[in-house]
Amino acid sequence: MMLAKEGQMSYRWARAHMTILDKIMIRNETKKPLSGYKLGFCLHITKETSVLVITAKMLGAEIAICSANPLSTQDDVAAFLYSEGIRIFAWRGQSERQYRECIKRVLQSRPDILTDDGGDLHIAAHKLGTTRFYGGTEETTTGVKRLEILQSTKRLKYPVIAVNNAYTKHLFDNRYGTGQSTIDGILRTTGLFLSGKQVIVCGYGWVGKGVSVRARGMGAIVTITEIDPIKALEAHMDGFNVKQLSEIAQLGDIFITCTGNRRVIREEHLIKMKDGAILANAGHFDVEIDVDYLSSQDKFPVLVRPNVDCFKFRDKKLYLLAKGRVINLVGAEGHPPEVMALSFANQLLSILFLAKNYHSMENKIHNVPPDIDINVAHYAVEAAGLKIDDC
Ligand SMILES: NC(=O)c1ccc[n+]([C@@H]2O[C@H](COP(=O)([O-])OP(=O)(O)OC[C@H]3O[C@@H](n4cnc5c(N)ncnc54)[C@H](O)[C@@H]3O)[C@@H](O)[C@H]2O)c1
Repeated sequence: MMLAKEGQMSYRWARAHMTILDKIMIRNETKKPLSGYKLGFCLHITKETSVLVITAKMLGAEIAICSANPLSTQDDVAAFLYSEGIRIFAWRGQSERQYRECIKRVLQSRPDILTDDGGDLHIAAHKLGTTRFYGGTEETTTGVKRLEILQSTKRLKYPVIAVNNAYTKHLFDNRYGTGQSTIDGILRTTGLFLSGKQVIVCGYGWVGKGVSVRARGMGAIVTITEIDPIKALEAHMDGFNVKQLSEIAQLGDIFITCTGNRRVIREEHLIKMKDGAILANAGHFDVEIDVDYLSSQDKFPVLVRPNVDCFKFRDKKLYLLAKGRVINLVGAEGHPPEVMALSFANQLLSILFLAKNYHSMENKIHNVPPDIDINVAHYAVEAAGLKIDDC
């Protein structure tokens, strides 16, 4: 609790840069539309998330929250949320078991609506058997993909709004938010110079595009690896080198995975890498870099800086950042508030939509209603001080 004051400062700083949420709150505050609803959140506990949580509370909701990653919680923010009467089950540096237990605690609070980032809360909710949830929302690409599997096998038990798929989410959060914060995470953890470095970005989806452009902007020589020919072509026409990972493995100074896929960087690539290569992941789960292989080669990696583990094998050293977990949230503070304002405006409006309409919604994945998406864009245009023409 000694950290709560610091967390409050972070909350206030973020809130001042997330005016879209204030606007939504002011419009709805008197009606308290979330009054009587229990919300269960599984989100990275950052200063931006605290703005979403406090806003939902102001609109009448009761909230229980856990973290979407064992290493991403900002403890000062967690302490602040607790001081505000939020049921919070999160701290930085959880074991896998503690992480799962915290998700269970959120579900034990009997939430009506579940808001998740990555799908772990939704999957755990589906394992519960009989419990009835009104509905849910999902923040990220990987979570939506996991829910699509439930949907395709007719096992989805409640309607879910795929917040990730809103234009005002993935076009900005995944691309510009992750672009900036991933580079921020790599720079904060390594303290190295990016200019002139060979940076290999695996995946040229929304996240990969953002990371590549930001790395190039700082002077790195960027090469893209892809498995999708359309994305590969797009990267090529955007002026990036496009190569197979096995071909470029020995050249790279910094590797950044942005795919949502498993074992993208694996033994065959790791053995080719040069001494001193740095490995970072921006995808949701810690499965993109084969950490098990690295650990099998060096059982006692040395922590050479906070969030930098050095693995020695085959007469070389490879540096793994943030244990292969989301570098932007473990090594830095996650996305900046201005971009999270868009994502969380979509979240909040989708929660309000669900609270009003869940009875008539099918148990399937729904897009964010287009009027919500466009309204968020209008709010954001205004917040950015822009004016656009009517027609
Ligand atoms: N760190 C963050 O804050 C943050 C933010 C948003 C999304 N994400 C996560 O980042 C990941 C990517 O999200 P996205 O929105 O860019 O998804 P996306 O589907 O737009 O892009 C993923 C890309 O990776 C490519 N890919 C898949 N396997 C590959 C492989 N083995 N080698 C090379 N390329 C491969 C795909 O073809 C695709 O183009 C997801 O896990 C998502 O949940 C993280």
